[in-house]
Amino acid sequence: GLIIFRLMITLYHPEGQSCLLNQLQVEICRYPLGMTGGQIQDEDISASSQWSESTAARFGRLDFDNGDGDGAWCPNTMSEPQLSDGLKEYLQVDLRSLHFITLVGTQGRHADGMGKEFAQRYRINYSRDGNSWMGWHDRKGRQVIEGNRNAYDVVLKDLEPPIIARFVRFMPVTDHSMFVCMRVELYGCEWLDGLISYSIPDGQQMVYSGLSVFLNDSVYDGASAERSEMLTKGLGQLTDGTWGLDDFLHSNIYGMWPGYDYVGWSNESFHRGYVETIFQFDHVRNFTTMKVHCSNMFSRGVRMFRKVTCFFQSGSDYEGDPVTFRQADDDVNQAARFVTVPLGDRTASAIKCRFHFNDLWMLISEVAFQSGNYDPTHKVDDSNTRILIGCLVAIIAILLTIIVIILWRQVWQKMLEKASRRMLDDELTARLAVQTQAFSFIHSSLSSEGGSTSNSTYERIFPLCADYQEPSRLIRKLPEFAHTSCKAIAANISEGAPHYAEADIISLQESSDSYSITAVNMNLFSGSDSSMREFPREKLTFKEKLGEGQFGEVHLCEAENMLDFVDEDLSLAGIDESPLLVAVKTLREDANKNARNDFLKEIRIMSRLRDPNIVLLLAVCVDTDPLCMITEYMENGDLNQFLSPPNPQTKSGTEQRQISRYGKLISMAVQITSGMKYLSSLNFVHRDLATRNCLVGKNYTIKIADFGMSRNLYRGDYYRIQGRAVLPIRWMSWESILLGKFTTASDVWAFGVTLWEILTLCKEQPYCHLSDEQVIENTGEFFRDQGKQVYLPKPPRCPDAVYSDLMLSCWRRNAKQRPSFQEIQTQLLESSP
Ligand SMILES: *[C@@H]1O[C@H](CO)[C@@H](O)[C@H](O)[C@H]1NC(C)=O
Ligand SMILES: *[C@@H]1O[C@H](CO)[C@@H](O)[C@H](O)[C@H]1NC(C)=O
Repeated sequence: GLIIFRLMITLYHPEGQSCLLNQLQVEICRYPLGMTGGQIQDEDISASSQWSESTAARFGRLDFDNGDGDGAWCPNTMSEPQLSDGLKEYLQVDLRSLHFITLVGTQGRHADGMGKEFAQRYRINYSRDGNSWMGWHDRKGRQVIEGNRNAYDVVLKDLEPPIIARFVRFMPVTDHSMFVCMRVELYGCEWLDGLISYSIPDGQQMVYSGLSVFLNDSVYDGASAERSEMLTKGLGQLTDGTWGLDDFLHSNIYGMWPGYDYVGWSNESFHRGYVETIFQFDHVRNFTTMKVHCSNMFSRGVRMFRKVTCFFQSGSDYEGDPVTFRQADDDVNQAARFVTVPLGDRTASAIKCRFHFNDLWMLISEVAFQSGNYDPTHKVDDSNTRILIGCLVAIIAILLTIIVIILWRQVWQKMLEKASRRMLDDELTARLAVQTQAFSFIHSSLSSEGGSTSNSTYERIFPLCADYQEPSRLIRKLPEFAHTSCKAIAANISEGAPHYAEADIISLQESSDSYSITAVNMNLFSGSDSSMREFPREKLTFKEKLGEGQFGEVHLCEAENMLDFVDEDLSLAGIDESPLLVAVKTLREDANKNARNDFLKEIRIMSRLRDPNIVLLLAVCVDTDPLCMITEYMENGDLNQFLSPPNPQTKSGTEQRQISRYGKLISMAVQITSGMKYLSSLNFVHRDLATRNCLVGKNYTIKIADFGMSRNLYRGDYYRIQGRAVLPIRWMSWESILLGKFTTASDVWAFGVTLWEILTLCKEQPYCHLSDEQVIENTGEFFRDQGKQVYLPKPPRCPDAVYSDLMLSCWRRNAKQRPSFQEIQTQLLESSP
């Protein structure tokens, strides 16, 4: 269609109005170009390398954190030594057509809180044709852009000067020891001038009453031939969207030298009396006008050009009949202005214009072209008109059909997405969805304010004005908003609960309040209501407080007549006294609704688990507040504390020696496998098997506890954002950490670690010599499987066979090759004398 400079035409006046124009321009040309919104297709995003398939270039979309990836583009920084400037890697975006790019945004890898990589600094390279690449630098020549400080905030950078390009590369500047990941967005609009380069003699230096005025094209991005001082194959100040002021000694841009906005030439150096310029376009166009912004400060020897002669080239040579435009001198008004040169609808792909001097100096700050696409079917006679109309109607019909199909597919996709998200929630740790939605909401509200992205075209309507509303501020609001909620949650978590990965020792009763991961395959347990019976509260006698969590407390109580109350025969579970000691977990009355729901869900799940090696829920009090659940009391606390070296108050040396006999340890491990076998037979994935979550009763009875339900305190949308500090990474399989995949096989992995803990008597944390970061790096090595992964060492008490045949097999990369709990149990029993 026609490219119409409607705003320039309707609103331009020689003086004033620039603020109005500028506002429009800024609003028009700061659209997100579609990394987040998806208008940029996956195949148009590429990269120098990728760390893995799940961190491929297509995942480098700002604020886009779901899908099947790991949250960002991450280059394979480990593969080869970096170049000295750290610039081997890049993420490339192909915009499919020339765009005017005014702003870029970057973000690191967050990935549900598991990612922490980001690019602190980066550079931008760009290209208009995909072959010759230019490095972006700011007006002062600095190439390096300060990037992110954390993995989640969006950092926006105004490109001053803006870029006109089709291809843009983001190049993280790293030192060799760093992992970087990036998500990016470009903001701007389509560049409809069609101008791909101009060639001019470089501007010169004027001395005005002792002051040096540099009139060179300081942002030109093409080549400059030293001797001839010709600039070729680039764009620069004449297309940067900044108009010069009336007084060319001053600049729109703060801190630049006099004459910065203009390119100027002196008639002393041009003996033919004109400056020759060549403009190259992307394809053949019909040109109606050229607009040239000139200074007319005749009091300082500067005047607009006297005449301009333009030659047109559509084939291989310039045509013989140029268009000439003369203008009268203006000896009154010294204001800078646009001169409109009519080009008479000439057809060309290149235009050569000769600007004739009218004084000592000629200064130009901007050139713009108004053109329509060249249409060879321009002259149609009447008989063809009908056919043409028929064709148009057909095309419109086809387009409508396509639109309907696209809409229908989108609806369909949304439904699928919803369905799969539900599945994710149930089966996997879901990925960061809320943040993404929130961001896209802002993006869409942004674009609806200024028109939609698809018709975001650049109208060059220029200069800077102090009071303009910067759309990027609107964008910035959102991360802050998302953050407040993040911070609130972080504060919540750190108040009451230790950070999981740092301190994994949590007392038995407290443990279920301590962190948040989803632990439950709810499908199994949704259905009819809990069969638990309400226990009369007054029959509980408080003995002692066992623990306290953020949302409740755990008390040791005596329960009267519990045995009569519970229908089943509890002697099977080793419970036969009366009054019975029980652990009572209560939910604070002021707990929020989510906490309440999670508490009830925990009850629902536990009420259906019946196994000698699973902690038994005896009864509940849910008719009135505070809600409480009554479980059997395990007098020896959790297995981690129980095994760790003697504490003089609780264990004597002989007792400790007794515990640490290999046969005893193995019998405990066998009990755990037995409980896990039961869980896996129900397709129940525990997700947090560890000694701290196993309780010890009389006679070394072990029962698995903590089904993570109250971790769901942070469920819903929030825990995913703050997830990082609350994942038991040292027990987690590589696929749980990297892919969020939890299965019985990942429980088997965790069992391997638990067995290791048992056989080392919980003297140290697994991988205690590695930091959390290193543990995650090690996880990456498990994934790559190049023999660089570090395994937990063989515990001193552990027979070689148990270590190599059993423990190591739990940590096999391929989940299918890991043994089942039944097989583990058999092997353990065989290893025990
Ligand atoms: C233009 O002139 C300034 C001032 O002398 C100089 O710093 C700059 O490098 C020049 N730019 C180009 C592209 O030659
Ligand atoms: C440059 O312009 C001035 C003022 O119009 C004129 O006097 C001078 O002769 C010109 N010089 C050349 C070389 O054309």
